Amino acid sequence: MSTSGKSQVIGVIGPTGFGGSYLSVELIRRGHAVIGISRKPQSFGTHPLYTPRTVDIETTTIDDLANSFRDLEVLVSEYGPHTKGAEALQYMPYVEVVRKLILAVKLANVKYFVFVGGAGSLVVPGTHESLADYPGFFYAYRRQMAESDAHVKYMEERLGPIGAVLRSYRNARLAEKSGRATAEDMDTIRTYEEGIRKNDRASDYIKAGRACLLFFEGNTSFPWTFVSSSPLYRPGRQTASYEITIDYVPLKGAQRGEDVLDGRLTGISAADLAVAIADEIEKRQLIHKHWTASSDLSDDTVYPSYVTVDDI
Ligand SMILES: NC(=O)c1ccc[n+]([C@@H]2O[C@H](COP(=O)([O-])OP(=O)(O)OC[C@H]3O[C@@H](n4cnc5c(N)ncnc54)[C@H](OP(=O)(O)O)[C@@H]3O)[C@@H](O)[C@H]2O)c1
Repeated sequence: MSTSGKSQVIGVIGPTGFGGSYLSVELIRRGHAVIGISRKPQSFGTHPLYTPRTVDIETTTIDDLANSFRDLEVLVSEYGPHTKGAEALQYMPYVEVVRKLILAVKLANVKYFVFVGGAGSLVVPGTHESLADYPGFFYAYRRQMAESDAHVKYMEERLGPIGAVLRSYRNARLAEKSGRATAEDMDTIRTYEEGIRKNDRASDYIKAGRACLLFFEGNTSFPWTFVSSSPLYRPGRQTASYEITIDYVPLKGAQRGEDVLDGRLTGISAADLAVAIADEIEKRQLIHKHWTASSDLSDDTVYPSYVTVDDI
């Protein structure tokens, strides 16, 4: 049940996606009415508190988009291109879609717009660089990601070839750690790390997410909050406990490697980020803020990348 005791009508763009499906389940569990907005929102399932609303936000006009938002008390964007696979991780159409969403939100006078972006816009402590631009980011990110079987499974399920090379890298590093690495394993590690340092496959897309923050920052012409998932965001256990950080990337422990990020990135399960977002929808304490939430990811059990009404 909602912590505020009041049920709200909440639009979720992307109810069938990774973050959006976990959020829709959390909101319905709390007794809110969810309007799922996407191209195939009916694939989330059938429930008395769930209404699918079919909209293609890439092709629709701003007026039609605004019309589909007018009856909502809150709108959450969990839009992402991942359902089209690894090749869709591009700068475009993400930036154009977010621009269009904001124009429609303003036209429809949406009372609270919760935008879920990525970790790339979080600032590295002690610098003026966001993660997407920080030279050591992709190395630290992929290395830590590869330490979790659950994270690699999620990448394999969602992003095919990107997940497959990450799995080979993880296997080679496990062999190295146990002292039984072959020359081929060492070559796999070297090639993978050189590649991500030069140009990670997701880097254009991650830059798009951080560029979109500029549409929001300092803009008080509409009510928004900008949630950046913390970097090691993946399916996992719901602990219902999380820590909020404003603007900066939260780092754990003291510096131990060459770089300030090495081994120190944090993450959150989609189920816990859903709790943090649902809490913000009910309490509205982070209006006009760019924030992230992180939680305990020590449990490496594999959870599904997408959930449906059956998980309510
Ligand atoms: N570590 C990180 O920082 C991290 C990791 C993952 C995600 N994220 C961020 O989280 C946000 C959500 O991403 P996600 O991965 O959770 O979502 P996702 O799995 O990519 O899901 C995308 C959702 O958007 C909908 N969608 C796609 N194209 C659409 C269109 N043209 N019109 C209407 N709906 C459309 C899809 O539904 P249909 O197919 O039914 O249209 C789907 O429900 C993004 O901003 C992403 O960058 C950050």
